[in-house]
Amino acid sequence: MPISYNSDLRVFRLDTPRTTYLMGLAGKENFLGHIYYGPSVPNDGLCELLRLDERPFTPGEVPGERASFYDAFPFEYPAWGGGNFREPCLRVIDAMGGGNCELFYESHRILPGKPPLEGLPAAFGTEDACSSLEIVCLDPVLGLRVHLLYTVFDDVDAICRSVRIENGGTAPVELSAALSASLELDNRDFDLITLHGSWAREMEIDRRTLAFGKQEAFSLRGISSHQYHPFLALCEHSATQEQGSVYGISFVYSGNFLAQAELDQFNKVRAVMGIHPDGFSWHLEPGESFQAPETVLVCSNQGLGGMSRTFHDFFRGHLIRGQHQPRPVLLNSWEACYFDFDHDRLLELGREAAQNGIELLVVDDGWFSHRSDPTTSLGDWTVNEEKLPGGLKRLGDELAALGVKLGIWMEPEMISPDSDLYRAHPDYAMTIPGRAPTLARDQLVLDLTRQEVRDCVFEQIAAVLNSAPITYLKWDMNRPLIDVYSTSLPPQRQGEAAHRYVLGLYELQERLVSKFPDVLLENCCSGGGRFDPGMLYYSPQIWTSDNAEAIDRLVIQEGMSLIYPYSATGAHVAACPSHVNGRVTPFATRGRVSLPGCFGYELDLGKLSEEELALIPQQIQEYRQYAPVFHNGDCYRLASYRENHSYDAVMAVSKDKSLAVVNFVQVCSRAYRRSLRLPLAGLAKNVRYRERETGVIRSGAGWMEGGLLFEALQADFYSKLVALEQVD
Ligand code: GLA
Repeated sequence: MPISYNSDLRVFRLDTPRTTYLMGLAGKENFLGHIYYGPSVPNDGLCELLRLDERPFTPGEVPGERASFYDAFPFEYPAWGGGNFREPCLRVIDAMGGGNCELFYESHRILPGKPPLEGLPAAFGTEDACSSLEIVCLDPVLGLRVHLLYTVFDDVDAICRSVRIENGGTAPVELSAALSASLELDNRDFDLITLHGSWAREMEIDRRTLAFGKQEAFSLRGISSHQYHPFLALCEHSATQEQGSVYGISFVYSGNFLAQAELDQFNKVRAVMGIHPDGFSWHLEPGESFQAPETVLVCSNQGLGGMSRTFHDFFRGHLIRGQHQPRPVLLNSWEACYFDFDHDRLLELGREAAQNGIELLVVDDGWFSHRSDPTTSLGDWTVNEEKLPGGLKRLGDELAALGVKLGIWMEPEMISPDSDLYRAHPDYAMTIPGRAPTLARDQLVLDLTRQEVRDCVFEQIAAVLNSAPITYLKWDMNRPLIDVYSTSLPPQRQGEAAHRYVLGLYELQERLVSKFPDVLLENCCSGGGRFDPGMLYYSPQIWTSDNAEAIDRLVIQEGMSLIYPYSATGAHVAACPSHVNGRVTPFATRGRVSLPGCFGYELDLGKLSEEELALIPQQIQEYRQYAPVFHNGDCYRLASYRENHSYDAVMAVSKDKSLAVVNFVQVCSRAYRRSLRLPLAGLAKNVRYRERETGVIRSGAGWMEGGLLFEALQADFYSKLVALEQVD
């Protein structure tokens, strides 16, 4: 039984294959508290971990110490009120303007499978493969019910949590915070890990000692953002890639978020995750509900690598739909010609693609209306017939004759003030009445909270996709939300606009993938500005960064791989000197760095040397042969250039452990070194493996403990791929 309730002990128990999660009821009032989350433990309750026999007792027994109780109790879903001064998940303003809320267990049910979350991306699983627990807590004064939903899966050590808040009272209430989860743990010398960055520097890992007070990653940009990531991990200070305890929390959401860890006076840490309360409010009439997005919890005692592999399995098996395997090798026109193309130029790219075994040509920005720079035409998704006479249909047909498929770029959430759409419907743009709209990249954001705006966008996308043999769509989004205001909402409900925007976006993408399931969707947000599990529910791959320069990409992909499988990351070989940082790296190394992801080229093939061109078929062959191991197997971060400033190595092992690949990059050679001995990971100890290139055979244990030698070359940006195959 993966989920059970022990009515004697009053303990709820959730079991994944290797972890246990316990909650318990406390006091006469039935407070719901968190007891334990960690490696599987026997069925002995552990109720004493609620510390109810220590002062302060539950208020029912010691009413005079109610405030102290609230200050210390590990609430499973903390609300503001009663004396809970730590970060609450829930803040409610009642019809009188009062701001207290107290939650007590009311009922629960255990159900097979996992109910969908209305309007939101969420993990899925069959009734045989997962089961769910719904616990209902009640604020009896407000009549407010909080439905806590937990799901466990029989094939992966992850737990999904989400919350629905229902106004069961007789008066309206305002939610001013409705976070999705709280996890309360005793501090075990924890470090906090978050991801930070900027445009072209996304997902850099930041690990620091957890300090007293609140530390957080957050976004208020309307997108999950380049700057922070909807994720946090707490790990023992001594935890390494493959050893030690790690707790990871990921948020299946694409808008404003708060990921916070707070270390308190009792050396306990409360981690919360959810929609950022700043600027948020939600009005609930009696009978109405608010559904908060889902979080995914992972606990690993095999270090950061163990956490990552669990997230990878979880996202691949239970969140990412439309796997579209194998992914096409593509050539993108952006860094090849930016806005400077016409039909003949694209066909030339197509011819070069065909000659080199590239399967898909993506026509990036600039094919529509009169767009030849970023200042115009977003919103007018009709082909520029001057550039492309005969339209995308003719281009697609001519490419097809060459054996190359057609893909296109769109930025459907946007509107240029210089567009026919804006001239006809200026109100479709989100702006604040009485204020000059804030332009970014010369564009405004469409008000996706409105059905008629979504319909207009969808009809245009559908018309484009129906007009030509298009097999791939890059959905871009190139600015934050700033003037967050919707004419569809009354003044007192404007706090709903940012979340309603995200819901509108989800509805649009759901319509898209349902109507065009064969079109491969790749999300993008000026690179990785909205690379999150919410978007992965709709598109199996996301353009990770506008920085495709190989060495910077090592760092970006290391951060990405902390949470997401390589199959989720768009990774292209770009031109040199790099358009973003000016670095020059060998073509072979650029290929190797891109290989684990969803491979492609982002350059003018006509400008490559003969030697570079000759490498392309080899790169594509290596990609076809070895990327599936990275996409579907178990990944190990053997060495981090970000940490050692010299070399990087990632490894993937197929699930049946018959094939392994090591991708090594020496970024910066050091003087007077001997060869590098790199211990491998993840192989079957007693199975013999042959290194394909050299024919050397050793046991898995031999490779893992003895290591693989990389000769001490005096070369920067040198790369090598090593494949090991099972012999017996
Ligand atoms: C964004 C994307 C790029 C490219 C341009 C086009 O910056 O991240 O890949 O598509 O827009 O304008």
